[in-house]
Amino acid sequence: MRLVIFLPILCCQLSKSAFAFNDNSLKVLLFWAVDNATRTQETVMRNVAYARRMGGRQCCDVILAHYEGSPNDWDKNWYASEVTSSLQKPGYKFRFLQEAYREDQWTQKYEFVWALDSDIDFTDVNLVELFQLARSSGSLIIGPTFAGDQAWKTYATDLMVDDAVESRKALIRSDNLVDRQKINVLGKPDPRCMMRHTDFVEMTAPLLSSMVLSLILKDCVDCIHDRAEWGLDRVWCEMASEKFSVSACTLLDATPVRHLDWQTAKVTADFKDAERKVKERYTKYWAQVRNIDCMLAHKQRRVTIDTHGNIKEDD
Ligand SMILES: *[C@@H]1O[C@H](CO)[C@@H](O)[C@H](O)[C@H]1NC(C)=O
Repeated sequence: MRLVIFLPILCCQLSKSAFAFNDNSLKVLLFWAVDNATRTQETVMRNVAYARRMGGRQCCDVILAHYEGSPNDWDKNWYASEVTSSLQKPGYKFRFLQEAYREDQWTQKYEFVWALDSDIDFTDVNLVELFQLARSSGSLIIGPTFAGDQAWKTYATDLMVDDAVESRKALIRSDNLVDRQKINVLGKPDPRCMMRHTDFVEMTAPLLSSMVLSLILKDCVDCIHDRAEWGLDRVWCEMASEKFSVSACTLLDATPVRHLDWQTAKVTADFKDAERKVKERYTKYWAQVRNIDCMLAHKQRRVTIDTHGNIKEDD
């Protein structure tokens, strides 16, 4: 069982890949859900240019899902030379990804799909190192950690700015303050570690192995709703771990990205509703939001982390 499952992963690590100092046959798909604000356009353009500079011209395909505005709002020359394809309609990132997904084609073409919010800036990061770590993690869903003071908020976040604090509180992701803090703490770089296996990677900027896409975009029934997509990231780690017999989720501590945290997405009651439905259906996969182990920085050794965050060095 284990052997069979490992084969596809092994095959792709041995294949030539982007950001690996050789000819690229397997690419990375950079997938953004975007509005047409100037800061969004600038950030996306800057990050695409940076990715190509680090990984080579052929490193990446780019898909933009325009939930607001259209391709016409963007620089035409840039768009023609840099963007592989686009979608245009209201909606959310994973719903778009689901729609754009072409199983056979993507599995052959892409090593990873990087599902990015437009307020992620990876231009300070050594992407060669980031992808090396991602590959060596053995995981399928890999989260960068977020440098700086990012709030606990994620892609779909509560920008009910005009509303009273009380109504914002009511829409805060998960009623549970403890959960919220755990998500925030887990997503920060842990200086003791190069990377960590975890049971939770949030939806803000996950690097998804193309091997895991069909599980999360097709097999996971009702995990991505039309008008909301909370909950998916709470079950995908355990679901993928079970299916592929690996520790499916990793957070990369050595290569944090910047989360500018624009908080552009409006949260409605649909989000909580979506989360509740996913939890009901897939209770057994529901993440506790915890570390599993830590690959020590500078030591190339994995050690466990207990629930208080203590590392057992003598593992
Ligand atoms: C963004 O899209 C809106 C709605 O389509 C449009 O009114 C506005 O002019 C666009 N802004 C830019 C910067 O293109």
